[in-house]
Amino acid sequence: MKKKINFHLYLIGGVSIILTTIFITFIFYGLFQQQVKRDLKNYGQLLAQNYTLSSNSIMFKEKVMGDLRITIVKQNGEVVFESYADVSQMDNHGNRPEIIDAVNRGEGNSVRYSSTLENDTFYYALLLKDGNILRVSKQTHSIMTLFLGILPLVVGLATIIFLLCLILSQVLTRRIITPIEKMAENIEALEENIAYDELIPFARTIKMQNNHILKQMEYLEQEKNKIQMITDNMSEGLILLNNDKNILTINNSAIYLLSEKEKDYIGKNILYLSRNEQLNNIINSAADGESSSAYIFVEDKHLEAFANPVYYKENMVGLMCLLLDVTEKKESEKIRREFTANVSHELKTPLTSILGYAWLIKNGVAKQEDIKNFADRIHHDANRLILLINDIIKLSELDDPRKDMNLEGVDLYEIAKECVSSLSVSAQNKEVSLEVVGESHKVIANRSMMEELIYNLCDNAIRYNKPSGKVTITVKAEKENIILSVEDTGIGIPKEHQSRIFERFYCVDKSRLKATGGTGLGLSIVKHIVQQHNAKLVLDSAVNLGTKITITFMK
Ligand SMILES: Nc1ncnc2c1ncn2[C@@H]1O[C@H](COP(=O)(O)OP(=O)(O)O)[C@@H](O)[C@H]1O
Ligand SMILES: [Mg+2]
Repeated sequence: MKKKINFHLYLIGGVSIILTTIFITFIFYGLFQQQVKRDLKNYGQLLAQNYTLSSNSIMFKEKVMGDLRITIVKQNGEVVFESYADVSQMDNHGNRPEIIDAVNRGEGNSVRYSSTLENDTFYYALLLKDGNILRVSKQTHSIMTLFLGILPLVVGLATIIFLLCLILSQVLTRRIITPIEKMAENIEALEENIAYDELIPFARTIKMQNNHILKQMEYLEQEKNKIQMITDNMSEGLILLNNDKNILTINNSAIYLLSEKEKDYIGKNILYLSRNEQLNNIINSAADGESSSAYIFVEDKHLEAFANPVYYKENMVGLMCLLLDVTEKKESEKIRREFTANVSHELKTPLTSILGYAWLIKNGVAKQEDIKNFADRIHHDANRLILLINDIIKLSELDDPRKDMNLEGVDLYEIAKECVSSLSVSAQNKEVSLEVVGESHKVIANRSMMEELIYNLCDNAIRYNKPSGKVTITVKAEKENIILSVEDTGIGIPKEHQSRIFERFYCVDKSRLKATGGTGLGLSIVKHIVQQHNAKLVLDSAVNLGTKITITFMK
């Protein structure tokens, strides 16, 4: 704007200077011509008064002033006197306009331009009393030579004026623009800073639009934060890519699932984030306009990845990639598969032995004295089957997340006492003493699950104890929590097995399993119950010294 105003002011200044110069030259030249004409007329009339018939050309010659030229011409055009030239050489002047006018009207004027001399000659002719015509003439500069003569002066002056124009236009422009710039600097207080009244409607519109833009920006910011919050708190990984597979947006989960390295991936190619072949394959298919998905394995995580092209108004504007962590799902699938195989195996073993003994008895192969023994074995194995099936049912019930927990205030001390009495026979058989210490404490829990939990722990503590061993069940409060612990002085669990004993069908010593009569499911039932009650389990065991399992219930 400044440049434009300046340029226009320069242009106006320049054109004004040129036009003024031309007009003034013409006006002055006009005045000058009039002055020359007036002077010539005065001279002519003055000379005519002094002119007598007797006077001769010498009189004129003596009186000639400056560059004034005097000619006497007869009415027929013949030159009788000329102050500057030889009369005999001169041609007839009868056709000169000033002479014709003088003959007809008593006086005449004319101006003629000589291109060879580049000047104008002014003529004034006057009819004398004796009938001759007196003509005075004077040469002056033509307008062109006059103009060229003063040109350096004009150019000099014009330059000075033009420079003044430049300075003035700069100052003026600044004066016009500065208030507008101040307005622009403080859009908030636009109406208080109005530079010119003409700008009031303009300022109002700007203010309105500014407010509108601010509101829109605030709204967009809020929306952006909302989306950011959602994506950041999503456990699924989300990546948005442009058509060149450069990352536009990536949430924390995606970074965690794919690389674990906190880096700024925005603007970088997907390869910079992950070189996983399957992931890049589905992204390439999405880039070709096809939705696809794949299971990918990154470090120790199983991920399910989906890649889709994103369209806006029928044009593909980018790609979206969603990553789901299915590690747990995969792992529980694996556990379930192994469990099914194990269950079949565990059920088959006692059934096969039952079938075998029953066959021997049925076909009379068994001796009479062995029949009781065989019947005992069948009884034992059928019992074992029942135990197994009961445990499997319990586990599958615990596995069902839809099951109602039926929570109530349960006194752990009381349950421990009941458990001790129901296990007293087997404890006596193993020569193990049982003791419950502590005091009554209630936890919010499922009663039968608590019975199952304490029973399993006590059962193990007796089962894996040594003769004249001891089992202590403690129920106490610590800070905000209720603690239940079952401690024995038994065989203990070797370090390398400690992390695995909670797995289904896991037992430290397979050969002893049958002898001890366990199912290998007790501790996995315990683990499930503890998880469902949001409690914490700690195992502390040393081989040959004993085992202590502590469960902390949060209040
Ligand atoms: N108190 C304990 N002392 C020593 N070993 C134990 C104890 N409790 C559990 N174990 C070991 O952990 C394994 C798994 O226990 P559990 O799941 O209850 O199965 P089960 O008792 O039917 O064998 C047992 O086979 C045993 O080897
Ligand atoms: Mg057990």
